[in-house]
Amino acid sequence: MNEGRKIDRREFVQGLGVQVLGALGLSEWTWRRAAAQAATAPLRQLAAEKGLVFGSSLALKYFLQSTAYQQLFVSQCDIATPELHMKWDSLSSQPGVYNFGNADRFVAFCDANRMRVRGHTLVWHDALPAWLASQLTVANGQAIMTEHIHTVAGHFAGKLYSWDVVNEVLDPASRRPDGLRNTLWLENCGVDYLERAFRATAAADPVALLVWNENYLELSNGFGAAKRAAMLNLLDGMLARGVPIHGIGLEAHLRADQATVLGDASYEAFLGELARRGMKIFVTELDVQDVTLPADAGARDQAVAQIYSRFLSATLRQPAVRGIVTWGLADSFSWIAGYRPRTDGLPVRPLPFDANFQPKAAYYAIAATLQSAPRRG
Ligand code: G3I
Repeated sequence: MNEGRKIDRREFVQGLGVQVLGALGLSEWTWRRAAAQAATAPLRQLAAEKGLVFGSSLALKYFLQSTAYQQLFVSQCDIATPELHMKWDSLSSQPGVYNFGNADRFVAFCDANRMRVRGHTLVWHDALPAWLASQLTVANGQAIMTEHIHTVAGHFAGKLYSWDVVNEVLDPASRRPDGLRNTLWLENCGVDYLERAFRATAAADPVALLVWNENYLELSNGFGAAKRAAMLNLLDGMLARGVPIHGIGLEAHLRADQATVLGDASYEAFLGELARRGMKIFVTELDVQDVTLPADAGARDQAVAQIYSRFLSATLRQPAVRGIVTWGLADSFSWIAGYRPRTDGLPVRPLPFDANFQPKAAYYAIAATLQSAPRRG
């Protein structure tokens, strides 16, 4: 420890924690948790200290159900992603007719609480209005897609930190050489629809960071490796043609039984490849499904926290990583309850805070990885 310099309480406890617990040989994760417990600082502050942003997805209806959740959200997050409000099916139910009410309220809430907004998402094969599939054709596909981008990105121009311009566009199961997912956008707009989407978004909003958001890139298995290769190949082609792409979003919907395929050298090498291409990297939808774990909540929380720690330690070693966004903050507001409920009927516990908004082991794991992350930017 640097003798001359005045040190604050947290740093003192951390230093002490490291020496004592290290000497006792307790597991690395335990001392990290002990050290982090000393740090009651909100995750947004711990992230900011390292040049990172921290936040979560949000649907405003959750605040109607709990004002305490609003307080927690504001205290922990300096960036937010609309879980629903900016998706095509939420904004428009008839061709050319848009209602920006909820989305505008979302942006206003974030502005009022000094939070950046991640626009989500302009071009996706899901959350689409019912009329689209029946009316989209090869003749009008490009016009309908770019008109939507023009309208929505234009409406929020200059107000957003970033846009997920395209979402989940890769699928190795399509068996296409380019790895693209077979979607109504590929079918009706052609193989260059990604390029068109990025160019149209840059024209409508020259300020926002333009992000390609994708799932399963974090997995070091055959499926993940195929996605990584397809992304790098398509990225090289688009960057060579001067397509305005500024960042990559890794969704990171993790599972508790995936420890062996997370955070390894091939993953860090992939992040390095993205950084070498000038990409800013964001973890955009982080949570850990606990459906395979035993019933005991304490044991579940430990296992889930270890996944957060393993994944984020590897991720945050890459200086091009600029932000961590979870898909919800508290277990009571997680999509996983509906998507991967437990067979024993117990509530799922995938997020940093429990249903009473109390910090869990996962919160301390995130805090510890932020604290030990190298500073960037
Ligand atoms: O609000 C309606 C309700 O009125 C209706 O009764 C009910 C039954 O149909 O549906 C409700 O809308 C649902 C909405 O969530 C609100 O709960 C939609 O059906 C349902 O599709 C929607 O699911 C969202 C999904 O994206 C599709 O937009 C999830 O909440 C949201 O967590 C999920 O998020 C995605 C990311 O955008 C992209 N990556 C994966 C991630 C998880 O699937």
